[in-house]
Amino acid sequence: MNYESILKDLRPSQEEIDKVNKTTDKVISFLNKICEEENIPAEALAVGSVAKNTWLSGKSDIDIFIHFPKTTPMEELKEKGLYLGYKTSDALDGKASEHYASHPYLTSIIDGIEVDIVPCYRIKDGSELKSAVDRTILHTKYIKKNLSKEQESEVLLLKKFMDSVGTYGSEFKTGGFAGYLCELLILTYGTFENTLRKAQDWKFHTIIDLENYGTSDNKIFKNDPLVFIDPTDKNRNVAAALRLERMLDFIIASRNFIRLIDEDSNNKEKILEYFKPFVKVRFQNKSNGEIAKDIISQFKDRETQTLIIKFPIPEMNADALHPQLLKTVESISNKLDQEEFSVYRHDYWTDEESIVIFIIELNVFKQSKYYVHEGPKVWNRKAFDNFSKKWEDANLYHKDEFLVLERERQFKTAKDFIKFILDEKNVHIIKVGKNIKNALCNEYELNEIDQFLDDLTNVSSDENIQLDFLNTLDDLLNPGQYLKR
Ligand code: UTP
Ligand code: MN
Repeated sequence: MNYESILKDLRPSQEEIDKVNKTTDKVISFLNKICEEENIPAEALAVGSVAKNTWLSGKSDIDIFIHFPKTTPMEELKEKGLYLGYKTSDALDGKASEHYASHPYLTSIIDGIEVDIVPCYRIKDGSELKSAVDRTILHTKYIKKNLSKEQESEVLLLKKFMDSVGTYGSEFKTGGFAGYLCELLILTYGTFENTLRKAQDWKFHTIIDLENYGTSDNKIFKNDPLVFIDPTDKNRNVAAALRLERMLDFIIASRNFIRLIDEDSNNKEKILEYFKPFVKVRFQNKSNGEIAKDIISQFKDRETQTLIIKFPIPEMNADALHPQLLKTVESISNKLDQEEFSVYRHDYWTDEESIVIFIIELNVFKQSKYYVHEGPKVWNRKAFDNFSKKWEDANLYHKDEFLVLERERQFKTAKDFIKFILDEKNVHIIKVGKNIKNALCNEYELNEIDQFLDDLTNVSSDENIQLDFLNTLDDLLNPGQYLKR
């Protein structure tokens, strides 16, 4: 298929390119000027998609790395990195905030563009690695050297497709494909279309070793659904952050798209939909209140019970937050299942600033008053005697060879059980993220979904944040909706 008409919208305009280049140059020359004036033996350069010519129109973030000699102590690198970042941001009227990858770095909005300023070590190949971000400069060099002009366009198509079907981005929240991985896939398979054709047949633990390093049987890759040996570091899987769900999403979306272009190639409108943000028709021209009503009625129709646990985010590093939330909500769900409540779906949501919401939808949320408590097998006379003595006053009888009695349940509703485990005394029963434990136990609010959505300021006073939460609920109700247009 010819993608030229689609590409017209994905490529940044000359005006946009000029603007981004101007800001990039300004930041780099300022950083290098301070380094020179203050005798700091570091140098700034552009990396990431701006340097590689693989950024999508309207989506630029400028990645600037300041590389220090390998002999620089880590403490000094951290301190000087932030110092240089703040000084530059202030001088260029930026709005700075600190972030954390393997070490702290600065993000600043300069001329309306997001600029990451990251300190790293200057290395020649992966074996010299001192911090996780050191590879980035090597990645940029590798892609600039190997990716042809035509393939830059293929990368844009792949990134945009991935974005539309919800598989782009390696941050924990998405667990999808990083920009660098998209570029490597194009180097491997040649074009966007061929990448999708090949992805249709990927299996669990597909291995791609472009430089034939032969290191793919390294144990650390064993459980990774996709292994792409980093051409700049033979011991690294570029797809390490890719979650199985996102890989499967991409395989399914690829099959859907390829079937469309093979069988219905004149359906231009539908093809184009795969390169646009997904539009939720249900949400169109509706206020948040109306969307909330729609969502409540979808939940009602399912005849489940959906519980909302809301609590404030403690003071902590934002990147550590997501894994802890996922682990905790999964653990609560598992324990509910063990107690014979049955969790149908669960998820979490956060504005990453002030609140967290756990969403637990239950198929079984109320149970009968009594349950069968099992003792030893009747055949074992000694155990029988002990058990009988212990439950002297109870009505003991046998069931499937076991001696049993009926006891009253401690928790008749899922809500009761949740209240029990979210108590400092009992919280050890679940696996809970260490930073969130306190806030979860002491400041949580438990609600049913319809009461909770009755007043959207329960989520936030900001309508965009409300909508983001409603979106998460809609995704939980309608999984897989992004994969087929
Ligand atoms: P970015 O996430 O900004 O990626 O990381 P990008 O290639 O610039 O793509 P977009 O267009 O902004 O989305 C910057 C660099 O950090 C390294 C890569 O080298 C990337 O080019 N990186 C980032 C990784 O190696 N792995 C990751 O998971 C994320
Ligand atoms: Mn980038």
